[in-house]
Amino acid sequence: MPKSERKCLFTPGPLNTSDAVRQSMLLDKGSREPAFIQSVKNVRQNILKITDLDPDGLYTVVPMQGSGTFSIEAAIGTFTAKNAKLLILVNGAYGRRMVSIAEHLDIDVQSLEFEETEAICPLKVAAHLKLYPDISLVATVHCETTTGIMNPLEKLGAVTAAADALFMVDAMSSFGGIKIDFSKCRIDCLVSSANKCLESVPGLGFVIAKKTLLQSAQGQARSLSFDLHAQWQGLENSGQFRFTPPTHVILALEKALETLTQEGGIEARSERYHNNRRILLSGMTRLGFRPVIEDSLQSPVIATFHQPEDPRFEFTPFYQWLAERNLIIYPGKVSRIDSFRIGTIGDLQAQDFHHLLESIEKYLKLTGFDLPLKN
Ligand SMILES: Cc1ncc(COP(=O)(O)O)c(C=O)c1O
Repeated sequence: MPKSERKCLFTPGPLNTSDAVRQSMLLDKGSREPAFIQSVKNVRQNILKITDLDPDGLYTVVPMQGSGTFSIEAAIGTFTAKNAKLLILVNGAYGRRMVSIAEHLDIDVQSLEFEETEAICPLKVAAHLKLYPDISLVATVHCETTTGIMNPLEKLGAVTAAADALFMVDAMSSFGGIKIDFSKCRIDCLVSSANKCLESVPGLGFVIAKKTLLQSAQGQARSLSFDLHAQWQGLENSGQFRFTPPTHVILALEKALETLTQEGGIEARSERYHNNRRILLSGMTRLGFRPVIEDSLQSPVIATFHQPEDPRFEFTPFYQWLAERNLIIYPGKVSRIDSFRIGTIGDLQAQDFHHLLESIEKYLKLTGFDLPLKN
């Protein structure tokens, strides 16, 4: 792509993809062709491989058409047995979305709410599970993209396992960019999508689930299309999706997984994202912006900043000025704080962040906003 046309998407997805990923979609393939069936197999196996999971081991990957929310809806609808009680841990919009999905599906759901700027507290979760021993599934978001805060998966998995409940993780914005140890975190199923840290295009989500969990969920789904057991069986029996697969999106994801491996796997990608985050946070702090999330809880996925207190500062003209220069940032999503967000994932390198910071500095100087600039 000509450099002048390249936009930098400092967003939590869809995000920048490589030329190789976009070029891999230039082929039309039939959904029943052996070569396409092999691509589906490669995608399922390589998602396990990058996670250090054995394709012949405990877990399998079930891809699902649609955005990430569709896969979350499929997992909640398939893995919650008829009279089961579900607990959802909430410290942002994506936790709340899971509650809403469960309510729409008529599932007996409770939510345990935390401040959006606080990580979920495992001790409080353990106490809640003691009070309600009949809860059989606990769901949490790993990186709550509302703010970019990280929740403590390993501790949450341990208290959930101690209560003999299943542990479901929405790792939409973290999978592929942050190492997750499935065994240490006691994960029964994890949901993510192609267009976040895997750096592919939108249109496909997937669930990494224990095979035993899928087996036990036969006939449990609350919908025909969002039946993960049936989707899994279709893939295992014929290698094919039950309904039209997003063929080009699968080819792109196959290439994106190859690219991730060439980069050095999740560890190397995580290091690049951490480096992006370091440059962004130190640069923004130097310019006088205050991060909303305490540094020790801040993910390398997205950072939230308080809007400057200067009453003349408005997000929209700031956004537009940057967008005219092909720099796309993101509005805030925190309920009680005026904020905006800048993502650090996708095919973005250190020089993209230096360029963004120089542009923000230029904007502040041009407009004369009163920020306590630090040297
Ligand atoms: C943590 C988390 N969960 C769920 C979603 C929803 O994914 P989608 O917009 O692909 O449906 C997002 C999207 O950003 C997310 O960050």
